[in-house]
Amino acid sequence: MSILNWSEHLVIDDGVMDATHREFVAYLNRMGSLEGEELLALLDEFIAHTESHFGQELRWMEALEFPPTSCHVDEHNSVLEICREVRKRVENGDTGFGEILARAVAQWFEKHVASMDTVLSMFMKEHGYVPTHH
Ligand SMILES: [Fe+2]
Ligand SMILES: [Fe+2]
Repeated sequence: MSILNWSEHLVIDDGVMDATHREFVAYLNRMGSLEGEELLALLDEFIAHTESHFGQELRWMEALEFPPTSCHVDEHNSVLEICREVRKRVENGDTGFGEILARAVAQWFEKHVASMDTVLSMFMKEHGYVPTHH
């Protein structure tokens, strides 16, 4: 079952940012159909990937002294907090959270891409800053 289809409205830079976001979306789509041990394993991978995705953006923001850094980081942190909380519940036997989490994070992500990540990408372009992977 598909949680979020990659399409034009998610495209920002046809580069590093989009590549990371495509992976993020692929995780959400897998998460939506898993339960139990499989969901737990996927959540561990997804959380690690998301820490590195957000860490990458933080590195770019710090390099440029991007003004709304703290606002952007706050959004990242609250999403990670929710994912870690759900991971704990799944570990404790509440296995039915995959689809709920995937849908909630997908909703958040579409808004985040349209606002925070788009603004960051524009700022990087304006400053001639070429973002790189970790
Ligand atoms: Fe992002
Ligand atoms: Fe972001």
